[in-house]
Amino acid sequence: MCCARREAEKMLDTTNINLPRHVGVIMDGNGRWAKKRGVPRWEGHREGARVFRRIGEYAADIGVKYLTFYAFSTENWSRPPEEVAAIMQLFREYLLEGDERIKENEEKGMRLRFIGDRSGLPADIVNLIEKAERESADKSRVYVNIALNYGGRDEIVGSVKKIAQKVACGEMKPDDITQDDISGGLYTAGQPDPDLIIRPSGEYRISNFLLWQSAYSEFWYSDVLWPDFTTDDFDRAVLAYSGRNRRFGNIG
Ligand code: IPE
Ligand code: IPE
Ligand code: MG
Repeated sequence: MCCARREAEKMLDTTNINLPRHVGVIMDGNGRWAKKRGVPRWEGHREGARVFRRIGEYAADIGVKYLTFYAFSTENWSRPPEEVAAIMQLFREYLLEGDERIKENEEKGMRLRFIGDRSGLPADIVNLIEKAERESADKSRVYVNIALNYGGRDEIVGSVKKIAQKVACGEMKPDDITQDDISGGLYTAGQPDPDLIIRPSGEYRISNFLLWQSAYSEFWYSDVLWPDFTTDDFDRAVLAYSGRNRRFGNIG
């Protein structure tokens, strides 16, 4: 999006708002969006990818520091191969854009991190991911995680395996294992847990997203399909979050 248009865009006044530090987004509803229009599902994914760019930039502009976008789950491989191929192609396009927009990326200050199992991804995509992570490693305005071939259960298993290794070689005792050890072995190690998780498309489930990290997240649901999701919807989610009373087991 060009800068002039972005400047004209109405932005949420966050002065008296309790802004979430970390927002997770389950980008769902692309297929139904396409079906409603009688177009192939990949067109829904293309629109979804466009909205991802827009919401990511907007969230950073209003001051959200950490964002995690759920783009492709470990379970999504069960979809028809043509659909999976189309989604992978969209990832390629997004990653290649980084090269063409180096200057803009500098201004955005986005540090990209891809979370998920890379061993299952096409080699050229893994190379592009590594490049994007390397080239954004010095950025700190906003930390953006893209969950790609990601599964929350797999992630926990991965962390437990690292701990088991340490126990097996005598570096650690089973009794010494803490919650921080588990958190530290996740893809999101070092990042705050998500304060708010947004799920559009009228589904009310977590679908294997950030299972460990979402223990005390606030949830915000909407019937809007992801390709129709706007910055106003994002504002609604943030405002709802701001009014929530998080008790963490304590009394209010
Ligand atoms: C989300 O949209 C994108 C991915 C899961 C890759 P869907 O493709 O799941 O859209 P619906 O749920 O079928 O509408
Ligand atoms: C969750 O959406 C995964 C992503 C958005 C990447 P799904 O469409 O895969 O979830 P289910 O199958 O409806 O639970
Ligand atoms: Mg879906």
